[in-house]
Amino acid sequence: MAGFDVIEQQLKELKESGRYRPLTVWEGGSDSWMTLQGGKRVLQMSSNNYLGLTQHPALKQAAADAIAKYGVGAGSVRTITGTLDIHDELERRLAEFKGTEATLVFQSGFTTNQGVLASILGPDDVVISDELNHASIIDGIRLTKTNKRIYAHKDMDQLEAALKESGGFRQRVVVTDGVFSMDGDIAPLPHIVELAERYDAIVYVDDAHASGVLGKHGKGSTDHFGLHGRVHIQVGTLSKAIGAVGGYVASSHSLKDYLTNVARSFLFSTSLPPSVAATCLAAIQVLKTEPELTERLWRNANSFRSMLLAEGFNTGVSETPIIPIIVGDPARTNQFSRRLMEEGICAQGIVYPTVAMDKGRVRLIVTAQHTDQDLAFAREVLTKVGKEFGLI
Ligand SMILES: Cc1ncc(COP(=O)(O)O)c(C=O)c1O
Repeated sequence: MAGFDVIEQQLKELKESGRYRPLTVWEGGSDSWMTLQGGKRVLQMSSNNYLGLTQHPALKQAAADAIAKYGVGAGSVRTITGTLDIHDELERRLAEFKGTEATLVFQSGFTTNQGVLASILGPDDVVISDELNHASIIDGIRLTKTNKRIYAHKDMDQLEAALKESGGFRQRVVVTDGVFSMDGDIAPLPHIVELAERYDAIVYVDDAHASGVLGKHGKGSTDHFGLHGRVHIQVGTLSKAIGAVGGYVASSHSLKDYLTNVARSFLFSTSLPPSVAATCLAAIQVLKTEPELTERLWRNANSFRSMLLAEGFNTGVSETPIIPIIVGDPARTNQFSRRLMEEGICAQGIVYPTVAMDKGRVRLIVTAQHTDQDLAFAREVLTKVGKEFGLI
C-alpha cells in the first residue's frame, strides 16, 4: 500500500536504534500480581498504583453507584452540559483537601499541564524549568511563544542566575516536578520558593508522583515542606495514587476562572465520566481515613531501597517509592528488564532518549499493596539476576 513509506521508514529506525516498544497486554486489572496475556503471573513493580486504590472496595462501589445514578458518560464538554454536580463537588473537595481557594479538574495530568502552561505563558513572559521536568510540561511550554530558560536538575545557583537575568519580563514562572518520575528524587521546593519570593516569580509544581504519596494524607509536596500559601500553582493527578484518571490544578479562584475560559485542553474535550469523579471523591475520603496505606507505602519503599543498597545496587538519587536500578547501556538495561520478567517481576526498562545514554535503568515502584512476601520474592529475583548482569 502506498502512502506510509515515511512511517515505515521511521518505524524501522526506531527498531534499529532499540527505541521501539511493543505494548504488553495484561489480563485483568491493575494489581500487585498481574497476569500477562497467555497466563504468566508476575509481581508488578512498575505501576503507579501507589496505594492499591484501583482495587479498593469503596472506590469500586462509588463508581458503580455513580453509573447507576448518572449513566456512563458526561455527554459534553464542561462549558456546555458537561459540568455535573459531581464534577463541582469533586473540585470543592479537592480544594478543601489541598488547602487552596479552588481547583479545576482536567481529563488527565498531561492535559492539565498542557492547558495551564499554554494559558498562562505568553511572549512577554519567561518560564524557568528544571531540565528533568515531565514531557507534559515540556509540551505545554512548546505550545506557547514564551521565553524559556532551562536549569540543570535541581541546580539552585542556575535557577537564581536565570531569575536574576530575567527581570525585564512581564511574568516569571518557575516550573518543577514535585517528585521526579525517572529518578524518584524530591524537588528542593523550600529553596525554589525562597528564590521565587526574592525575585517575584510564580512557583508552579507538578505533583503527579507526590499526589497521595507525599505530605499529610498524601496532600503533596507543598504540604510535605509546610509551604501552604507560598506555592502559586499546584498540579496533581488523579491517575496514579488516586487510582482512577484525571488531573487538576489547585490555585486561586481567579486562575480557575481564567482557565475555565481559555485553557484549550479543558474547553475542547469532554469532561470526566461521572463514575470517575465519584471514584476520586471516594479516594479523597480513603486518603483521610486510612493513613495506614501511605504509612505502609513509605515503610515498604524505605526498607526495599535499603535492602537494594545493602545488596550493592545503584539506586541513584531515589528518596521516594520510585526506585531505579541504574544499569547504564540501553541494550543491557532492556535485557535486564526482560530477564526479570522471565523470573516473574515486571520492572520497566527506561533508556535513552528518556534518560541519558549511560543512565539506562529499570524503574521499580514499590506500593502499599506489596506484602513482605512479595518484597522478599523481589529481593531473591533481583539479587539472582543482578549477579548474572554483574550489577552487584
Ligand atoms: C511528572 C508527571 N506529570 C504529569 C504526568 C501525567 O499524568 P497523567 O497520567 O494523569 O496524564 C505524569 C505521568 O506520567 C508525570 O509523571
